[in-house]
Amino acid sequence: MSRSARIGVVGATGAVGTVTLRLLRERGYENARAFASKRSAGKQLEDGAVVEEATPGALAAGGLDLVLFSCGTSASRELVPHAVEGGALVVDKSSAYRLEDGYPLVVPEVNGDRAFEAIETTRVVANPNCSTIPLTCVLKPLHDAAGLRRVRLSTYQAVSGAGARRMERLQAEPVDEHDLEFDWTWEGDETEEESKIRAEARKILELPELPISATTVRVPILVGHAQSVWVETEEPLSPEQAEAVLAGADGVRLVETPSPREAAQTEDVLVGRIRPDRAAEGNGLVLFLACDNLVKGAALNALQIAELLLEPARATVR
Ligand SMILES: NC(=O)c1ccc[n+]([C@@H]2O[C@H](COP(=O)([O-])OP(=O)(O)OC[C@H]3O[C@@H](n4cnc5c(N)ncnc54)[C@H](OP(=O)(O)O)[C@@H]3O)[C@@H](O)[C@H]2O)c1
Repeated sequence: MSRSARIGVVGATGAVGTVTLRLLRERGYENARAFASKRSAGKQLEDGAVVEEATPGALAAGGLDLVLFSCGTSASRELVPHAVEGGALVVDKSSAYRLEDGYPLVVPEVNGDRAFEAIETTRVVANPNCSTIPLTCVLKPLHDAAGLRRVRLSTYQAVSGAGARRMERLQAEPVDEHDLEFDWTWEGDETEEESKIRAEARKILELPELPISATTVRVPILVGHAQSVWVETEEPLSPEQAEAVLAGADGVRLVETPSPREAAQTEDVLVGRIRPDRAAEGNGLVLFLACDNLVKGAALNALQIAELLLEPARATVR
């Protein structure tokens, strides 16, 4: 993406928006504008940028090549069409468009080519959920090697996944009050996060029938989502073979014991503890992964999509 591309960041004062602006600065993008709601309009950010109110008129006025949205689902539904009307390409990090037909749902290392479909059509690419992104980075190479038959997982998700205010609440909370939480909307006996992970992973991997069962858990950690993942494959795949496959996978780094702390502020999905699943009936492996939910789980993935859209030849996906 040309370093002079005119980029809007909507949700710039939030947990994801703050990281987005930092990554843009670090990568030399000189032309970013910060947007948020009326509440933060006029606020000066650390880098000196002054927050503009994300009104439909401001977004439809033109002057933006690309807009990165991280402002929540209902605000995205309202505002994204105005940015498109103004001529911008959009990467939206909410769940507003993820499962809609015509809107590619993209993890560049997994299905980057799908992003291009939006350029001449909807002009909007959806960024997946912060647990789906690292999961698919690991599942795709395993699928290519041995065929996925079934996936089960349990997550350990940091509070920053629920936004900046939730981080402040954890920091103010006495340690002996910390607890696990299931702070998502319930959809029957599942959390919406559990059904999102299944539906989004199926769409990204293009495996619409893949059996996936998830238990999502919020843990009292500021940054970094982790997951235990049980994978059954069609063909035999030993832990050593899986390690070799994952060692060569883009965006994935093998470590002995992945942890949120080790993953924080890094761009990689950390994977380790790869071993046989001793409860599997067929070919089964267990592994553990960790990823910075604000970086690869959100801001970085969206920026990599943006780089694909605006300048495929210079895209930074490894
Ligand atoms: N946190 C994660 O790990 C993660 C990962 C993937 C995707 N996401 C998605 O990214 C989005 C933001 O998450 P977050 O964690 O950054 O939340 P957050 O910390 O609560 O920040 C929300 C941001 O959206 C802005 N905003 C709220 N309503 C708005 C409106 N009507 N118009 C314009 N701006 C508005 C807020 O601005 P004010 O300062 O004006 O309130 C703030 O900048 C959500 O859709 C979330 O699902 C988050």
